[in-house]
Amino acid sequence: IPVDVFDLVIFGGTGDLARRKVLPGLYRRFLAGQMPEDSRIIGAARGELTDAEWRAQVAGAIAEFVPKEKQDKTAIAGFLERLTYVPIDARGTTGWERLKELMRENVVRAFYFSVAPGLFGDIAQRLSDHGIADAWSRIVVEKPFGRDLTSARALNEVLARHFTEAQIYRIDHYLGKETVQNLMAVRFANILFEPLWKAEYIDHVQITVAETVGVDGRGAYYDKSGAMRDMVQNHLMQLLCLIAMEPPWHFDPDAVRDEKLKVIRALKPVLAQDIVRGQYAAGGGEPGYAEHAENSASRTESYVALKVAISNWRWQGVPFYLRTGKRLRARASEIAVTFKQPPHAIFDDAKGWHENVLVIRLQPDEGMHLWVMIKEPGPGGMRLMQVPLDMSFADALAEVSEDVPDAYERLIMDVIRGNQTLFMRGDEVEAAWAWTDPIIEGWESRDDRPQLYDPGSSGPEDALMLMHRDGRRWREIR
Ligand code: BG6
Repeated sequence: IPVDVFDLVIFGGTGDLARRKVLPGLYRRFLAGQMPEDSRIIGAARGELTDAEWRAQVAGAIAEFVPKEKQDKTAIAGFLERLTYVPIDARGTTGWERLKELMRENVVRAFYFSVAPGLFGDIAQRLSDHGIADAWSRIVVEKPFGRDLTSARALNEVLARHFTEAQIYRIDHYLGKETVQNLMAVRFANILFEPLWKAEYIDHVQITVAETVGVDGRGAYYDKSGAMRDMVQNHLMQLLCLIAMEPPWHFDPDAVRDEKLKVIRALKPVLAQDIVRGQYAAGGGEPGYAEHAENSASRTESYVALKVAISNWRWQGVPFYLRTGKRLRARASEIAVTFKQPPHAIFDDAKGWHENVLVIRLQPDEGMHLWVMIKEPGPGGMRLMQVPLDMSFADALAEVSEDVPDAYERLIMDVIRGNQTLFMRGDEVEAAWAWTDPIIEGWESRDDRPQLYDPGSSGPEDALMLMHRDGRRWREIR
């Protein structure tokens, strides 16, 4: 879908996120011919840089974060020409008039707030005081969107003073991932799955987001956050919503977000015995979490596993097991939907029997695999075996996927197009915090300590028990 001509202002244009994700992503869209002639990117930050100095920084970011085969000299030069830099003081007066002069009429204006949430209000205020944002302007805000319900509400209120909800794009980059959107296509564009998508046929769902990285370098932020706030309240909740929601009447922003919101509101409070927190220990020559976080007494979790229930008709009695952690055995994110047994077994050899499982693999090796039972080939009688029906995007869609945008690229282009479907609405974020807050408050009031786990393992022992005691087991992390 074509994109209109735009002026994109990145506040925090010299920051880490802009350098690692936003600017390399924009370059890739430029390379793919998706940035209309005449569109411009304006970096705004505190540093006293010239255009040339900022362009040199961005060139460095492209060299570091864009795969070598996509680094085309002519394209990079063309892209850099689109960049302008304005030194700006988010809390003062410097730079705002200059920014105003730079903005053009009759093009899309987008403002990316790639800054600490404490500055959202200041920037929003100045954009409106100086008449820089018009009624069609869009603003993009990053997570963390608050650290609890109270702070998220305060942020929503600050932004609402200057912008309507239709102008606010709250990013959760998991929604920009190819497979996450494919999950919706598979559910709602096929007749096959939806009739079985309910408590009658589904035994349980597992959602895993495992990482091998630790918190090295981000300890100061992470230690005040932990896996629950950093990953569960947003990314895992979004995945849960897409799996559990009712079919929206249309693939449109409010229809989809209304359905997601209903899921969040239907989540039951989580009992203490249904949560396991972990913290990675030292190992493999690497320091443990506490040392990374520079807080030897830290009780922050770098791992969390929980059993969640949704109280509505569709999901009555179906547990959703969620887990995420750092410094685990492998980088592996997937959703696995395990179906129930057939009501009656006609084959004597039950040994080879396994449940049907639909595995939706987010990363790496994106794809979907549906595990089904077949007869073991050969003359040995009716023995059963499990085989995957494979839909591996990497192979099947090799040619098409050559140019699949990464999550950030896709989401930024959606901002320019004015499509909010893959962004979180204010009420959704608040509902997610309303569910998360009591869990965190519970830990704090009990002075809960996370269980240590070995780096390179699949997490703390107690997390295994969380499923064992229900007669189930986690899928292997690989
Ligand atoms: C971020 C978290 O939102 O997501 C990080 O703050 C985490 O802690 C990252 O590492 C994971 O994203 P991805 O796309 O690498 O799975």
